[in-house]
Amino acid sequence: MAKKLYVKTFGCQMNVYDSARMADVLAPLGYRSTTEIEDADLVVLNTCHIREKAAEKVYSELGRLRALKQARQRGGGEMLLAVAGCVAQAEGEEVAARAPYVDIVVGPQAYHRLPDMVARARRERRAAVDTSMPADSRFDHLPEELAGRQPGRGVSSFLTVQEGCDRFCTFCVVPYTRGAEESRPAADVDAEARRLVAAGAREVVLLGQNVNAYHGADDAKGGEADLAGLIGRLAGIRGLERLRYTTSHPRDMTPALIEAHGTEPKLMPFLHLPVQSGSNRILATMNRGHGADRYLELVEALRAAQPRIALSSDFIVGFPGETEADFEETMALVREVEYAQAFSFKYSPRPGTPAAERDDRVPGEVAAERLSRLQRLLDEQKRRFNASMVGQTLPVLFERRGRHPGQVAGRTPYMQWLHVEGDESLIGAVAEATVTDASPNGLRGELADGRGAGTHGRAEAAGLGVAGGVPA
Ligand code: 5AD
Ligand code: SF4
Repeated sequence: MAKKLYVKTFGCQMNVYDSARMADVLAPLGYRSTTEIEDADLVVLNTCHIREKAAEKVYSELGRLRALKQARQRGGGEMLLAVAGCVAQAEGEEVAARAPYVDIVVGPQAYHRLPDMVARARRERRAAVDTSMPADSRFDHLPEELAGRQPGRGVSSFLTVQEGCDRFCTFCVVPYTRGAEESRPAADVDAEARRLVAAGAREVVLLGQNVNAYHGADDAKGGEADLAGLIGRLAGIRGLERLRYTTSHPRDMTPALIEAHGTEPKLMPFLHLPVQSGSNRILATMNRGHGADRYLELVEALRAAQPRIALSSDFIVGFPGETEADFEETMALVREVEYAQAFSFKYSPRPGTPAAERDDRVPGEVAAERLSRLQRLLDEQKRRFNASMVGQTLPVLFERRGRHPGQVAGRTPYMQWLHVEGDESLIGAVAEATVTDASPNGLRGELADGRGAGTHGRAEAAGLGVAGGVPA
């Protein structure tokens, strides 16, 4: 009999992808996804360590789930609770100690062992914990038919090409929770991309914590392919219309990759390139390995290669030791770059990272005030960027139904959501749309060939509340 699986995903696209992967490895055990947590036989929290007090929030979520689990047990049933993701990796056995009703604690590199762990948790009465970082390649264990079994996986699909990070930014837990950088062989990526396209994907988003450090084995290329080479190879897949990649590090932005934005039409003119700060002093203590000038040079080179490229970034404000003058340098860099969108965070210490040891913390109120100034500026830029689209005709890849009946929604080349009046048959196709209205969260338009809105006139731009991206 089919058992029900409920996976709750927090954080970045990597986790979204991993959640799909967990559902895949559990399918042979009879688990099918449900949207009703109350009915689930197995609940997985796929956690993220990026937010402040991330672990505490997981424990309080677990407290709520415990009540559900107990209710189920009173009725003679079973509900297994699993904690996955970066909090699981960071906390390990601690989760089982603090929340003894948890059945499984699994780190991102052990997902292929989930079926065993489920069996073990049901057999033994104690939590199965696996947060090991294997010596063998973590990509070797992906089920072969991963994509093929999932036709509904999406017009735009994520594909992990690289995991882990060797950069050790002093604020970041990734090198500790996700381990050393590892790239997947180009032939495997190519095969998975083809399976995704066969299953209906028109866009593939190449994922990695430091994706432009990609250096996968490639027999055809004399040993190794870099990200630019991989993109060139994937661009040859028929039926694949769009390629994107995230998240990149400025230090790994090679001339070939920059060039690809100008020469490879399938590579979308959008780049998430986090800078974190505009102050050289702060960038140095963050161990970023580049200054503000180098970042601005990269932006200039990208715009020379692809004048329409839209840029996105991550920022941290209130990093230990950040002065008002440092912060002003961040504001100046933002003004100079003019972003299409960006994510900004107040620094929060992550246990085990070098920055967490520092005693020159910026007071919370000061950091909060800086964050609101930065966000106001970024919001203005986003609004300006979206408004600049009005009147333009853009190719839109339609991905899903819109909010209202008779609407479909898709993405512009610049990652903006755009809604049109149009038929569902558009989902999975790229069609030209002329932008009629812009709001900070998205665009509204009309199909350029008149297949949709026709005489319905313009709808309200307000309330376009389209879910935005998640920090990568
Ligand atoms: N405090 C605040 N923000 C952080 N990020 C990573 N670590 C921290 C931290 N300790 C932000 C960075 C990164 C994004 C995914 O999360 O900006 O690029
Ligand atoms: Fe973390 Fe990104 Fe720095 Fe790697 S490059 S340590 S993932 S912030």
